[in-house]
Amino acid sequence: MKSQIHEQFEKHFGGEGSFYASSGRINLIGEHTDYNGSFVFPGAIDKCIMAEIRKNGTDKVRVFSIDINDYVEFGLNEEDAPSQSWARYIFGVCRETIKRGGKVEGFDAVFAGNVPLGAGLSSSAALESTFAFAINDMWENGIDKFELARIGQSTEHNYCGVKCGIMDQFASVMGKKGHLMRLDCRSMEFEYFPFDPKGYKLVLVDSRVKHQLSGSPYNDRRNSCERVAAAIGVEFLREATMEQLESVKDKVSEEDYMRAEYVIGETSRVLEVCEALQKGDYETVGAKMYETHWGMSKLYEVSCEELDYLAELAKECGVTGCRIMGGGFGGCTINLVKDELYDSFIEKAKAGFNEKYGHEPQIYPVVISDGAHKCC
Ligand code: GLA
Repeated sequence: MKSQIHEQFEKHFGGEGSFYASSGRINLIGEHTDYNGSFVFPGAIDKCIMAEIRKNGTDKVRVFSIDINDYVEFGLNEEDAPSQSWARYIFGVCRETIKRGGKVEGFDAVFAGNVPLGAGLSSSAALESTFAFAINDMWENGIDKFELARIGQSTEHNYCGVKCGIMDQFASVMGKKGHLMRLDCRSMEFEYFPFDPKGYKLVLVDSRVKHQLSGSPYNDRRNSCERVAAAIGVEFLREATMEQLESVKDKVSEEDYMRAEYVIGETSRVLEVCEALQKGDYETVGAKMYETHWGMSKLYEVSCEELDYLAELAKECGVTGCRIMGGGFGGCTINLVKDELYDSFIEKAKAGFNEKYGHEPQIYPVVISDGAHKCC
C-alpha cells in the first residue's frame, strides 16, 4: 500500500512526504452504549487507512484518494467545505483542529486503505484519525490523543451528519497490539485488556450488505435514548435501571421503550463479559454476544435479514458467540469460534449464505493491532 501511495504522491505533487496510518476497529461487546455514557470493548485491527502528507506552504489542502480515484482542493475556512463526502472528513478534521486552537496550513496528501467500506469496521474513523494524528504531529499542536479522537467525533457530528459516540475514533487512535480496551464513555477512563483467547478464534463474517450511518436511522436511535433518559430524569441511560424504565412506560413510546430496554441490558452485558474474560470463561462471553445480537435485532432494530441468518447459522454450527457488530443496518457479524470448529463454520457460512443471497460473505480473521501512528 505504501509504495502505491508514494507513486501517486510523486505523480500529483512530486517529491515525498511523511506517512501516517490509523486502524479500523472491532468491538467485542457494548454496542450503541457509547452515546449512552456506558461501556464499550473495542480494539484496533490490522486494517488501516494510510496517508502520505507534506506541508505545501499555501493555504490550500490538496488531496488525492486512491480508492475513490478522486482529487479535491479546498481552503481552510468554514465556507470552503468541499461537497465530496470523503473530503468532508478531512476538511472537518482541519476545522475541528483549528477550533481547538491548533495550527493547520495547506498540505498535500495521498491516501488509500484496506478497511472495507460500509462493513461496520469504522473506515471513516480511521480516515479521521489518520489526518487528526498527522496534522497534530506536523504542526506540533500538542493535542492529546483523547482530544484527537474527539476531533474525529466532532467531524462526524458537524460535517458528516452522524451523531456518533466516541468508540470508533477512540479505538482507532488508542488501539494497542494484542489488547482490547474497556472504555467507560462517561468518565472516559479505560483499561487495556490482553486478548488472546486460547483455543478460540475471532472472525468477522461480512454480509456485504452495505451499511452507511449517515442517512440511516442511527441518529433516530440516539434521539430515542435521549428521550427516555429525560423521562427517567438521568443524564445517560447508563444510569437507569429496568425498574426505572418500567416506571415511565406510559410516558414514552413503545418504540423508545424497546430501545432503552436494549441499552440497559447491554450495559449489564459488557460488565458481565469483563468478569467472564477475567476468569477465561469464553462460554459466557459467547452467550452474551448472542444476547446482544438478538437485542440489536428485536429491540434496537438495527439488524437485517442477512445478519440474522448469519447469527442463526453460527448457532447451528456450534459457534460460541456471534453478533452483529458496529452501528448496524448491514456490515459484519463478529464470531468467537473454537479452533476445531473454525474451518467447518467458515465453509458452511460461505456456502449457506451464497445459496440464500447469491454471493459469498467476506471473511476477515481478526488481528488486534496498534492505533494511530507515524509510519517509519
Ligand atoms: C457506530 C458509531 C459508534 C457506536 C457504534 C455502535 O460505529 O460510530 O459511535 O455508536 O456505531 O456501537
